[in-house]
Formats: sequence, structure tokens, C-alpha cells
Amino acid sequence: MIKIKNLSYEYKANLNPVLLDINLSIEEGEYLVLIGANGSGKTTLIRHLNALLLPSSGDVEIDGLNSKEVKNHIEIRRKVGMVFQNPENQIVGMSVEEDVAFGPGNLKLPSSEVRRRVKQALEMVGLSGFEKRVPYTLSGGEKQLLALAGLLSMEPGYIILDEATSSLDPVGKEKVLAILDELKNQGIAIIHVTHNMEEALRADRVLLMGSGQIIADGAARDILMNREQLKALGLAPPMIVELMTRLKPYYKNEKSILTIDEAVNEILTLLQNNDGKDRDYSFREAESYA
Ligand SMILES: Nc1ncnc2c1ncn2[C@@H]1O[C@H](COP(=O)(O)OP(=O)(O)OP(=O)(O)O)[C@@H](O)[C@H]1O
Ligand SMILES: [Mg+2]
Repeated sequence: MIKIKNLSYEYKANLNPVLLDINLSIEEGEYLVLIGANGSGKTTLIRHLNALLLPSSGDVEIDGLNSKEVKNHIEIRRKVGMVFQNPENQIVGMSVEEDVAFGPGNLKLPSSEVRRRVKQALEMVGLSGFEKRVPYTLSGGEKQLLALAGLLSMEPGYIILDEATSSLDPVGKEKVLAILDELKNQGIAIIHVTHNMEEALRADRVLLMGSGQIIADGAARDILMNREQLKALGLAPPMIVELMTRLKPYYKNEKSILTIDEAVNEILTLLQNNDGKDRDYSFREAESYA
């Protein structure tokens, strides 16, 4: 379990704090998405979770290990793996297998165990067969999968992704998201920072950050349906929420509709029930409502 207590952080003394008295618990196996406008403090917050940053005040504990204790840092970084937007910065090996073996190789494990972990991690991300490739010859998407494999070979309890899908094409994104679903099934906690609301919908829990604070924390559906709150923080609500809001003047609907499938069902029902009586389908009304 990750426990954050009264965490505040400023990059330099006398500068305005970037994180303001954050309290948060993350359970094992949770799938959590962190959203918030540019500069709201998401990256600063998650860098505290593997001791890349240390609190100016307050505490961060990973499975009972306080990040203030330097002797805990190695174990904290083994438990909490992090993937960034740019995988180039995370490549250390001269070959794919060497790169993935780097982390477990430092854990003083028997070489057979290192090999087992490398094989398993490459299988998990779909890079089996790439063992001898030079990492710099991989495509951007493959490099991101390699970064993920390197982290999986450490058998972490928590995986953090900081906009790690933002430069991937739709197929690459889906691949990474499918891996996250699989990791969650294996009991690994996922903390995914993203600006993509459709990705956020896949989480169990969404945290909404604004100006260094957690503004909202709840079920993904509840947070992402709150169009006004998202807009007030400079975020665009999911496309379907926007679409269904604009359709509201035409029919009574109290349901929360968030996914494409839900919207398709609702619109088809609406079309089937359309008997033409007492309905004003004028475009002007929708515009004024929006
Ligand atoms: N090394 C640094 N020194 C001083 N200020 C910093 C430093 N890194 C970040 N900041 C400031 O801290 C604030 C929060 O930045 P952070 O990177 O955590 O935001 P973010 O929510 O991750 O934004 P984005 O969505 O753009 O990635 C910003 O105002 C930023 O300018
Ligand atoms: Mg960031």
C-alpha cells in the first residue's frame, strides 16, 4: 500500500509550493488514473512515489517504507517502476535482452533467475524474438514496450506511467493498455498519468489534480461525467459526455452515458422511439444549450 500524508513540495525554498498538503492512499492492485491540466503537479506527485523527489514536508510510505530514509530507496525503486513519455532516456543495455536484464542483474539473483525474468518480461510485452536487437534500432512504440519489460523484470508491486502512451499510435496505445489490464489482473497496482479521457475511463479510480491539490478522487465514471468540474480545471470532458450533453434538449435522459457503446445504444433507442410527436429537433435549441 502507498500512503501519502500531508505531502507538500516546493522545488526551491521560497518558491510557491507545487504540491499542497496531499493525503492519499493507494491500495495494492488498484488501477488508478491521474488527470489534471498542464502544470497542476502530476509529475511532481508521482516522482515522490519512487523517491525521485523527497517531500519538503509530510511523508510518503511504500509498503511501510518511508522515502525519507535513504536506506529504503533501493527497495522502494524495486517496488515502484516508472515509465516516462520518452523511452530513449530509459535505455541502458546494448541489446534488448541486456537492457531488460540490467535491473534484475543488480539484485544479486542467480543468472538462471535473471534469464527467466527477462524471458517472461519480453513475452509479456510481445517482444520475444527481439532479444539480440540493438535498442536504438527499435521503433518508438517498441522502445516503450522495452521500457515496460525492463520494469516488469524487477517484479514491481506498482507501475507508474507518466504520459507513456501519448506518443504512441492507436495500435501501440491499445497494446500498452491491454498489458496494463493484464498486470492489474496479476495484482499489480497501476498509476497512469494521462491527458486522454478515454484511457482514464479504463481505470477503477480517477484522481483529478488542480494547482497542486487533489480536487476530486472517485470512481472513474463519476469524475469523468462531471463536465463542469473538468472544464473549470481546463480539461476537455470525454467526447461522449460532450455529445450526449448536446443531445439533451431533444429527449429526457437521466442515465450516465460515457462510452461509445452506451451512446450507440441510447441513440438507437432514441431513433426507434421517435414517433414524431411533440419533439422540436431545431438545431438552434441545441446550440443555445451547449
Ligand atoms: N525542476 C523544477 N524546478 C522548478 N519548478 C518546476 C520544476 N519541475 C516542475 N516545476 C513546476 O512545477 C509545477 C508542476 O509541474 P509538473 O511537471 O508536476 O506538472 P504536470 O501536472 O505533470 O504537468 P504536465 O501535464 O504539463 O506534464 C509547474 O508549474 C512546473 O513549472
Ligand atoms: Mg507531467
